[in-house]
Amino acid sequence: MPLTLRLMHRQDIPQVTEIDHQAFPTEWPPTNFQRELENKLAYYIIAYETLNTNVQSRAKSSDREMPGFIIRVRRLFIHSQISKDDPLEEVPILGYAGMWIMADEAHITSIASHKDHRHQGIGAALLICLIELAISKHTRIVTLEARVSNLVAQNLYYKFGFDKLGVRKAYYLDNKEDAVIMSTEYIGSPSFKEKFTRVKQAYHQKFGDFTNELPL
Ligand SMILES: CC(C)(COP(=O)(O)OP(=O)(O)OC[C@H]1O[C@@H](n2cnc3c(N)ncnc32)[C@H](O)[C@@H]1OP(=O)(O)O)[C@@H](O)C(=O)NCCC(=O)NCCS
Repeated sequence: MPLTLRLMHRQDIPQVTEIDHQAFPTEWPPTNFQRELENKLAYYIIAYETLNTNVQSRAKSSDREMPGFIIRVRRLFIHSQISKDDPLEEVPILGYAGMWIMADEAHITSIASHKDHRHQGIGAALLICLIELAISKHTRIVTLEARVSNLVAQNLYYKFGFDKLGVRKAYYLDNKEDAVIMSTEYIGSPSFKEKFTRVKQAYHQKFGDFTNELPL
């Protein structure tokens, strides 16, 4: 399915809230997306199904064949024209993810794909874009917490080179479940870059290209 990833806008909040409720039904309080979009440290992104008629798809998936600086200039041009408050055409959102960037550390706050579209590459596409965003912001590492029972999410992170660093006891308020703390190595290191490139290539071979409209 053709996917586009872009920054979340206010108008996306109802659909994202629905996906958030499906994915994290027991978490309280639920994420306040309105507040998160105002938070200067936070970056929230969405993945949506690209429709042929969608006039928003101005960055092309052929980006991967263009010189890097042309891609960056084009994305900056696109983003200089769009603010988080601008009304955009409504799109079918299939997943979202959030990340806080504090000093040189990027912390993934959440990642979820629509329950009817799991295991179709949406979670991995979101993670690729978060890591690329973290690289473009010159952070050193990407970290997160996951429930010890959430092996699906842990598999996704292991695949991208995250390692388990430790455990936070009774981290989740609903059932006092422990969290595993996971982190990448230094994302500027040759070994991380090499692994990340390999995982991205495997992704594109399996699922094809997606359109990345993030301001990288
Ligand atoms: C975790 C989640 C985001 C994965 O999204 P997704 O769109 O299904 O992920 P993808 O299709 O891109 O799969 C990527 C990888 O995740 C892992 N994965 C996905 N579904 C899996 C499953 N049912 N069993 C085991 N591993 C699985 C695999 O490593 C997979 O790679 P592979 O296809 O090469 O095996 C999704 O299951 C979800 O929204 N879960 C509820 C919310 C949640 O738990 N978020 C994480 C909080 S820490």
